[in-house]
Amino acid sequence: MFSDYQHLIDLSDYPVSWWTKVIELGEKIKNNPSDFSHACDGKIMATLFYEPSTRTQMSFQTAMIRLGGQIIGFDNPANSSVSKGETIKDTTKIVSSYADILVIRHPVAGAAKAASLTADCSVINAGDGGHLHPTQTLTDLLTLKIEKKTLSGLTIGMCGDLINGRTVHSLCKALSMFENNKFIFISTPELRMPQYIKDIIKANGSTFEEVNTLEEAIGNLDVLYMTRIQQERFSSVEEYNLQKNTYVLDRKKMMLARKDMIVLHPLPRVDEITVDVDEDSRAMYFTQAKYGVFARMALIITMLGEKKPTELLKGRIYHSVKCDNPNCITNHEGYLPKSFLSSGDETLLECEFCDERKLI
Ligand code: CP
Repeated sequence: MFSDYQHLIDLSDYPVSWWTKVIELGEKIKNNPSDFSHACDGKIMATLFYEPSTRTQMSFQTAMIRLGGQIIGFDNPANSSVSKGETIKDTTKIVSSYADILVIRHPVAGAAKAASLTADCSVINAGDGGHLHPTQTLTDLLTLKIEKKTLSGLTIGMCGDLINGRTVHSLCKALSMFENNKFIFISTPELRMPQYIKDIIKANGSTFEEVNTLEEAIGNLDVLYMTRIQQERFSSVEEYNLQKNTYVLDRKKMMLARKDMIVLHPLPRVDEITVDVDEDSRAMYFTQAKYGVFARMALIITMLGEKKPTELLKGRIYHSVKCDNPNCITNHEGYLPKSFLSSGDETLLECEFCDERKLI
């Protein structure tokens, strides 16, 4: 099954050479923004945000306006016909007939992929539940390229809510494609990185270790990627309360870090980085958010410039089995095909929408 348009659902759908071209273009735009101020004249971008956002939504909107284009969309589905029960299929079908490019954020894994099946324009995944956030990853890669001058040979610590953090899932998948990167996962046992991400890291030839405290890892890092404990992904307040405040980066811990380590965070922050760390020249998270505009400008130009269709639903379709992940879009929107990719092992299937594995 093919879509007629180029989509960005998961960076892994593209070769590394494609991402590096986008990042290089992002750097060019950062250095000479006025050269690109008419790159999208006459184009319209729709932002469909079913879940709250500050950076992603506004940086996409800023990016399109700075390219000469215009924007439509909603940031609260309660103010749209979603509140009357309209499906993703119908909403994206209609909005994609108004816009040239569609950006979607949704609380359910696989929602952007579902939108791409029926949209009559390119679709960009701006975060789907706890699954993936590829444009944050482009932002993070651009930040590393500018601030560390390389995407290889780095020791990257990721700290906090690694099970629910779509930003760290996407970033691990991406950075493990570059040579000699090593990951140190800093989390409680309950919030560990999902096994499927660890399998991808190993398959790509990168290495990882898992530790419980920031103190035992921070001195070895080139990059510390802090994350928020995501209250909205926990099934109860009690479970969240057991995890919150576990990791707090403060000036005392920064004294254990190398002089050239940089601190990234996709933001929003709650209390995992104390505000006095903001004054440290190694704190790069506000700069990172600023670079997000350049990364998204580069992505919009690339997506609108490419006519090559993306192949979708390459896997075999099993109508008789369903995905076991209750937070998979196929369990929320009943018309979607139950589609799985074979992992090579006939008994192990991977959901094409949310990557959840299923034994049959
Ligand atoms: N980093 C990020 O996705 O931030 P928002 O949720 O504010 O978009």
